[in-house]
Amino acid sequence: MEYPPGATPLNRDEAQGLLLTHITTRGELDRWEQDNIVEALAWLKKTKPMDILNESFVRKLHQRMFANVWNWAGQFRQSDKNIGGPWWRISTDLKALCDDIHWRIKQQLDSSDDIAVCFHHRLVSIHPFPNGNGRHARLMADILLENVMNSERFSWGGQDLSKTSNVRQQYLTGLRAADKGDYKPLLEFARS
Ligand SMILES: Nc1ncnc2c1ncn2[C@@H]1O[C@H](COP(=O)(O)OP(=O)(O)O)[C@@H](O)[C@H]1O
Ligand SMILES: [Mg+2]
Repeated sequence: MEYPPGATPLNRDEAQGLLLTHITTRGELDRWEQDNIVEALAWLKKTKPMDILNESFVRKLHQRMFANVWNWAGQFRQSDKNIGGPWWRISTDLKALCDDIHWRIKQQLDSSDDIAVCFHHRLVSIHPFPNGNGRHARLMADILLENVMNSERFSWGGQDLSKTSNVRQQYLTGLRAADKGDYKPLLEFARS
């Protein structure tokens, strides 16, 4: 299977976790995943979760988004990737991130956009799952904005970011600037 730039390739075990054995192309996979994500969005609309800054919800959302497609949906990766720290540190890093964000919201010093964009970047940088991290971390940021901080969700360039495109390129450029500590391009992108 071919991957768009900035995507994480799966290792053999992970690829074997594909539940739908009839899928042979990347396009088919994208469609099945997207259908599953639509179900997750309906679940979110119905349940409007607010208690989201914890490992249990982070995993639950991934499971809701991908459980029809991958047998490891909702489970942290157990191998290292080119993005993210060592797999065995995911739980600890995630807890530190959640506590940090919780604290920043309580402090009321930063804007909700600043907090949400930082949350997105740090979450996707931890890269908790074998796949789906980009889509999951964008949705997590949107839920944080809408359900927890009473703000409008991001537009993320207004286009499907999972395919190779100019907009995806802009998004990745924003993430790379954020890797170096400059959040401005990613912030602008998220509201464009
Ligand atoms: N330099 C980077 N720093 C932080 N995150 C990155 C970087 N490059 C790519 N990413 C994130 O990793 C995602 C790809 O990981 P992946 O697990 O394949 O997610 P998805 O399947 O949802 O695209 C990208 O969408 C992006 O969010
Ligand atoms: Mg991917």
